[in-house]
Amino acid sequence: MTSDRSLPSGFTLWAFNSVGSTNDEARRLATGGAPDGTVVWARQQTKGRGRRGREWVSPPGNLFCSIILRPDCSVSVAAQLSFVSAISLIEAVESAATEKSVDVRGKWPNDVLVNGRKVAGILLECQSRESSGGNSMECAWIIIGAGVNVANHPADTEFPATSLAAEIGQSVAPERVLESYVESLSVWRGRWREYGFSAIREEWLKRAAGLGGTITVRLPTETLDGRFDGLDESGALVLESEGRRRHITSADVFFGNRV
Ligand code: BTN
Repeated sequence: MTSDRSLPSGFTLWAFNSVGSTNDEARRLATGGAPDGTVVWARQQTKGRGRRGREWVSPPGNLFCSIILRPDCSVSVAAQLSFVSAISLIEAVESAATEKSVDVRGKWPNDVLVNGRKVAGILLECQSRESSGGNSMECAWIIIGAGVNVANHPADTEFPATSLAAEIGQSVAPERVLESYVESLSVWRGRWREYGFSAIREEWLKRAAGLGGTITVRLPTETLDGRFDGLDESGALVLESEGRRRHITSADVFFGNRV
């Protein structure tokens, strides 16, 4: 079903009480030709998915949404939209927490932390097609799935989690977070189009957790300790480790040294 909840121009809302995964609903809509700016929102998910095939526990009270974008660029450039989305989520979380000062930061690659604990995560899924010249892969559409722990958060997670309600001590309507998120996304996506990734990278780095500090990076085949030195021009994490600068494109990151 669609809804007339107020979203910025260029965005259309599909609102559901319950779905398996909003990313799956968005995929169905994108495959059927849904336009750029289609937003799928559900009050709960029964098969919410996180990064690396993990489950995303999705009870009512939290925010679950997936946005279809058709950015007209290569797949690798479209992946930069995860940082556009992370900045927008940071702003949405901040605007929900006006009554109490909280520390809101991005955690590479695209989590949002409040007071050092995970409050939101992003799952990007992209459909590629061969470019007209046939020499690169273009992004046909990208789905940016975002989950925000507004009212509830899971216990006993590998990286500590929290919720907005727990941090600010008051309840917030998930639709309010959705509206400010899409509002910010519309602005930051515009900046990304106009100024490119450098503007996004600069803003994300201002809001990054652990920058310049010691981190542990868990890759599929090895675990590295080093200094978090920044992001490169593609959004890869730059790690200074044992005298080498490594560019990490996919990993789990933990703060501080392994004990
Ligand atoms: C992560 O592992 O941190 C990413 C979590 C992404 C969860 C969101 S909730 C809305 C959308 N639908 C899903 O099934 N997953 C994403």
